Amino acid sequence: MARDTADLFGKPTPRIDGVAKVTGAARYASDEPTANPAFAYLVTSDIARGRVGGFRLSEAKAVPGVIDILTHDNVGDLAKPPAQMDGGPTTTTLETDQIWHDGQIIAIIVAESYEAAREAARKVGVDYLAEPPSATFESPGVTIEPHKTGEESKDPMKGDAPAALAAAEVKIDSRYSTPTQHHNPLELFTTTCVWDGPNLTIYEGSQAMWGLKANVAKQLGLDPAQVRTVSHYVGGAFGSRGGTTARTAWIAIAAKRLGRPVKLVATRDDGFTIATYRAETQQRLALGASRDGKLTALIHEGWEVTSRPSGYNVAGTETTARMYACRNISTAVHVVHADRNTPGFMRAPPETPYMFALESGMDELAYALGMDPIELRRVNDTQIDPVSGKPFSSRSLMACFDQAAAKFGWSNRNPKPGAMRDGDWLIGWGCATATYPTNIGPAAARLAVTPEGKIKVQLAAHEIGTGAYTVVAITAARSLGLKVEDATVMLGDSSLPPVTVAGGSNNAATTANVVYKACEEVRRQLAQAAAADPASPLHGADPASLKLENGTLAGQGGASEPFKTALERVTGGVLEVYAENAPQGAKPGAVAGLYEGKSAMVRGTGREDVVTFAFGAQFVEVRVHARTREIRTPRVVSAFSAGTIVNPMAAHSQFMGGALWGLSAALLEATQIDRKSARYVNTNLADYLIPVNADVPEIEIIMVPEEDDRVNPLGIKGIGEIGITGMNAAVANAVFHATGKRVRDLPIRAESLL
Ligand code: MOS
Repeated sequence: MARDTADLFGKPTPRIDGVAKVTGAARYASDEPTANPAFAYLVTSDIARGRVGGFRLSEAKAVPGVIDILTHDNVGDLAKPPAQMDGGPTTTTLETDQIWHDGQIIAIIVAESYEAAREAARKVGVDYLAEPPSATFESPGVTIEPHKTGEESKDPMKGDAPAALAAAEVKIDSRYSTPTQHHNPLELFTTTCVWDGPNLTIYEGSQAMWGLKANVAKQLGLDPAQVRTVSHYVGGAFGSRGGTTARTAWIAIAAKRLGRPVKLVATRDDGFTIATYRAETQQRLALGASRDGKLTALIHEGWEVTSRPSGYNVAGTETTARMYACRNISTAVHVVHADRNTPGFMRAPPETPYMFALESGMDELAYALGMDPIELRRVNDTQIDPVSGKPFSSRSLMACFDQAAAKFGWSNRNPKPGAMRDGDWLIGWGCATATYPTNIGPAAARLAVTPEGKIKVQLAAHEIGTGAYTVVAITAARSLGLKVEDATVMLGDSSLPPVTVAGGSNNAATTANVVYKACEEVRRQLAQAAAADPASPLHGADPASLKLENGTLAGQGGASEPFKTALERVTGGVLEVYAENAPQGAKPGAVAGLYEGKSAMVRGTGREDVVTFAFGAQFVEVRVHARTREIRTPRVVSAFSAGTIVNPMAAHSQFMGGALWGLSAALLEATQIDRKSARYVNTNLADYLIPVNADVPEIEIIMVPEEDDRVNPLGIKGIGEIGITGMNAAVANAVFHATGKRVRDLPIRAESLL
């Protein structure tokens, strides 16, 4: 049964950790006080493929303050490689002499100071046995194979799409590409390891406290009970801290060898190769339609680069095949193994590249049909997932288009490319669908409340910048009828009850639902005791009808008693409850699995009864200079329907940040790869282009109200990733409208339009 959440959510609430963050009191992993640490610095490979023939270390060892140098020769057998996000191996590091990619960790210097470690790292000589590497698509030596399908990814397929495409009255068939991108979270990749006898504490920014704990324990052959992970705040993650990467176990080994804490703060350029990234894609999208615009065929194929040993891929066709009604669908995804580090999650991993192709293609089809692009979406809108035949739990896509279009002024658009102009500037208006599946994970939480109304909530959820502390505080305080400022929230520590990985935009739905459950248990205990007590004004009431509101336990007809009285009846002091939540669609044992480090997330397509997605519509105005081809984006309007909005203030920031990142991806971002050496060449924030304030317009966000009583009890969909998903195509479509030039390769820069 869904709950009416109007009394709980929807009030703009400043972040409870806002002051700590802006005053510097918030401790990120490398800020945690550690007694007498030694400092690590990474030595990384200068070649992308081959072997380490040998090290020349005498100069490095002679640097004053150098304590230890770890290489595969002296520690290689002490750790196993971490499991990758797809369960397969990641690119390994010190285990052997093998080089899998440029920038692979090949040695770790440990010294009394960061500076000494850095100096020594620069004095390490390496004799490589180099082989010619394969960099990316079309490089000699890459191997291509279909991605592995299974329970999580099945390559949506139905009807006979090639035949339907051949017979279609109107069709498009296009190739698109998206570049390599790196997350570059402001907080660098750091790891600090502290041993206390057999027990290891790891301070590391992470989206998976219990996952990191279990994974590192496995690598080091420890009992997971010996490992604790701590990450109270995370300075940006975006997927880059979802999996376990190689460095963590090696810093643990360094600390063990020394008998002293070791701290690593990796450099910005190391972050491009020791963590994950968004791999480049190539895609083919073909759409067939009848003259009235109804889709008759959809073919979407993708190719994604990955490392040699990993089959990691994002397979966004799982989403694109479900967007519009269509009887004939064919999809396929291939992985292209190259001499590269293993890619991984990056904000809306599947949707960001694959919705670019689908939504560009929809715009191309609209032009081929001579139809308004919004009308094309309307004609093909559906409340039923065309792939599975299951209903969407809710889908308000056209309401998003209608509200954003009205705000944007779409009715004033002259559809002819190049027809709108302001002096030297060609004006283009484009739009696209945004979407993201609603995922939710199992979780456990502990909640304690005092007669004075002070609340403490503990769960190993993750504050990755999204406002997670505040979501928990709001849920707990309002469910108990108490004050948000009286809630203390503890997250980011594997000594707290486990929560699924903070990925796939599941955090608000996952944590709010489990915390609500804990509060319900408090309410139930208070209500039962009050109803049974002849001295209570609520005596004899149906316990189910009693509510916690405004610091009281309230019944019908105005009868109530103070929270304090109700609580003291059941406990002399603090009432503590523990709750577990296995969301609908979770496999048996999902919560127990959390305690073993499994994430057990239920995906938007993972339920028997419904599919669950959030939707949005994104509109962009571009201005392209008629002579220089400079591209500006003065206006962005986005509307989203994502179920219950817990905190509109934080949600606004998430939606806006997503749209802004989308602009960045569409127009600026790309990690450049030198094809000969298979090395990234712009591994810093000067050469990796991102927008500055002057590039960013007013971004208008509309939150379209949506009640969804099927998605989960509180009706919450995810909002962390959807904001980026329509932007690539909205920009490309606007550029086409401005110039008549269809750019199918991102990013779109002035040179794309010459
Ligand atoms: Mo998100 S890319 O699932 O952390």
